[in-house]
Amino acid sequence: MKHFTIALVPGDGIGPEVIAEGVKVLKTIEELDSELSFSFTEFPWGCEYYLNQGKMMDDDGINQLRHFDAIYLGAVGYPGVPDHISLRDLLLRIRKSFDQYVNLRPVLLLHPSFTPLKDKAEKDIDMLVIRENSEGEYAGTGDWLYKGKPEEVVLQTGVFSRKGTERIIRYAYEEARRLNKTLTSISKGNALNYSMVFWDEVFEEVGKEYPDVTTYSYLVDAASLYFVSDPERFEVVVTSNLFGDIVTDIGAGITGGLGLATGANINPEKDYPSMFEPVHGSAPDIAGKGVANPIAAIWSVSQMLDFFGEETWGKVVLDTIKGLTVETENLTPDLGGKATTNEVGDRFAEKLKEKW
Ligand code: NAI
Ligand code: MG
Repeated sequence: MKHFTIALVPGDGIGPEVIAEGVKVLKTIEELDSELSFSFTEFPWGCEYYLNQGKMMDDDGINQLRHFDAIYLGAVGYPGVPDHISLRDLLLRIRKSFDQYVNLRPVLLLHPSFTPLKDKAEKDIDMLVIRENSEGEYAGTGDWLYKGKPEEVVLQTGVFSRKGTERIIRYAYEEARRLNKTLTSISKGNALNYSMVFWDEVFEEVGKEYPDVTTYSYLVDAASLYFVSDPERFEVVVTSNLFGDIVTDIGAGITGGLGLATGANINPEKDYPSMFEPVHGSAPDIAGKGVANPIAAIWSVSQMLDFFGEETWGKVVLDTIKGLTVETENLTPDLGGKATTNEVGDRFAEKLKEKW
């Protein structure tokens, strides 16, 4: 019997709505597989907590999360609390404290009808973007001088350490080798003359240990164009924190939108828990209406199961998602359906039982 402990941080807006459906999926799996069980502990942190308590999470929140096998997070941020506070004090604090330096974002077309691109089939858009998740442009380093004065100056410094750059690039080479796929690095050495020249050098250096992996290197502007014009070029992709943030939203755009995009924040050494979350935010415009698409959050469950070493279940969940995407009547409005969040989750659980 294998048991995994999961910390739930549903967060704000549609976060709790979609996380409930992901938990439903995990409970269904538990029912179907007598060898597997999960326990859930919920934490009420987020913007409402902030408005009541003056903080996004408990002061010792990181310690409270430390011994879980995984964290399952909905979304953080809501009108009334500035985004730089909500994101920094909860989401980024967890990513940083637990050294979740790998952000794994699959960009995969589940059904041809979901892409706005002409003549693209499932096989044309199938990549794994590996985004540096702990430093780079999001290190939070800089200064704000002479605030409000005519000579005002702000500095936002990118931080690229040898350790940080090498480990993400090495992780990507390992993944490309394991999956037997090509590896593309996205950078910008022509304009960012320190950070990205260094990045390119490390990419080449580490690559010497992986002569079996075919590599490509693109500038981020050209890569953004190719994501749209020619996504077939990309298989495994490695890039910095900021560039990864942006190109994965393009990735979401060409595969059906934010309701279908997932991201895992991984600490590969398992010194700390890893965190699984849909890429989308709290969607205040649809929160409380019961129409949020839970598929991104369910896809996160698939990533979590892979991370637990339960790849068979991870694949069953992903295959079930693929199967569900052809049942338009059972999808939420963002995918052209009329179903509610809860109905999608119920239908998913039903299909899972049929499949098993
Ligand atoms: P958003 O992702 O919340 O929404 C963007 C658009 O996509 C909205 O029209 C929304 O209705 C739609 N959408 C998003 N998820 C959907 C789903 N599951 N089903 C159907 N439609 C969906 O991004 P936005 O509006 O820029 O940010 C709202 C709040 O969320 C902000 O406070 C922001 O800081 C926060 N945020 C948090 C993130 C996180 O927790 N990881 C990531 C992105 C934003
Ligand atoms: Mg983003």
